[in-house]
Amino acid sequence: MRALHSNTGNLELKPGLEMPTDGKSTVKVRVHYASLNPTDLDILKGDLDLFFRLYRVKSPVRTGLEFSGTVVEGDARFGAGTKVFGYTHLLKGPKTHQDVITIPSDYIAEMPSTMSFAQAAAFPLGAQTSLVALRDVARLKQGQSVLILGGSGGLGVYAIQIARNMGLSVTGVSGPDGLATMKSLGADRVINYRETPLAEITGPYDAVLDLSARYGLRDIRHLLSPTGIFVPADPMKNIPSLLTNPLRKQKTGYLLVDHGNQDMLTELAGMVGDGTLVAGPYRTFSFEDHDAAFATLTEPGQIGRTVLDMAA
Ligand SMILES: NC(=O)c1ccc[n+]([C@@H]2O[C@H](COP(=O)([O-])OP(=O)(O)OC[C@H]3O[C@@H](n4cnc5c(N)ncnc54)[C@H](OP(=O)(O)O)[C@@H]3O)[C@@H](O)[C@H]2O)c1
Repeated sequence: MRALHSNTGNLELKPGLEMPTDGKSTVKVRVHYASLNPTDLDILKGDLDLFFRLYRVKSPVRTGLEFSGTVVEGDARFGAGTKVFGYTHLLKGPKTHQDVITIPSDYIAEMPSTMSFAQAAAFPLGAQTSLVALRDVARLKQGQSVLILGGSGGLGVYAIQIARNMGLSVTGVSGPDGLATMKSLGADRVINYRETPLAEITGPYDAVLDLSARYGLRDIRHLLSPTGIFVPADPMKNIPSLLTNPLRKQKTGYLLVDHGNQDMLTELAGMVGDGTLVAGPYRTFSFEDHDAAFATLTEPGQIGRTVLDMAA
């Protein structure tokens, strides 16, 4: 078994390991593909060390939040051999940059038959976080408008599609390389942030979803309708505007997908199955080539996700 050990801030290939599972219904999965998220970089930089200490995380495998694979030891719902995909709890979950994980089964769902393992590993967090943001946090309805900052990234390629499927008027913002992708996924209008700063964009929008995690309410207030909602991907950077919500008509939404939600993953898999969602773009690196894969997280213009091929 192999794993990316990362508790030193560097990445090293070493043997994998078993994690405690707190007595929950779990399945053991052989991981075929595992994605890279911006949060994995934060982990390498040590930004989450305090939280890992608070949660008493001892595992040296700290990166990897999404995966696809095959069940090796199942439970009542997922028999051995079932192809599954899912994500893991940021702090206490088993990290997916290793060959085999044992994971509570509420974090997984059966893979859509039309998806490859690579596509499925690039799918769960992006699709689920986008669905939660647009439907449950912003509570947008058909005919309303949304501005999606970061519409070409790992989350954005699903946010654009889900917003379009909800019947929203969708404007996507990215650098120049993402514009064509956002348009092809259903954005009505696309904006290059390198040419058009936020201050020059005109609203009003019923919601602004910031998947670039670069802006605060102050930066986007002029874009919101008088009762519009700002949904930042990183709630921790927006605590003051979350706390002052009762004082304002323009609200800030709290977006956090961390606990398992098998029903929603299954719902999303169904959308892929019936063709209402298509797999987002991704690029693949072999597990051994993890340094090059991590380097993509710091390069602008990457469309969709980077995934590691664990078998390669
Ligand atoms: N709250 C939650 O539950 C939750 C769950 C999962 C992820 N997240 C967070 O969601 C965020 C997005 O993740 P991701 O995987 O989609 O990231 P990503 O793949 O790195 O995508 C970032 C996107 O932001 C765009 N961007 C960069 N600078 C911008 C700017 N100044 N203005 C507008 N757009 C800009 C990028 O375009 P270019 O590449 O062209 O620059 C790209 O489209 C991350 O911060 C992640 O930690 C939150």
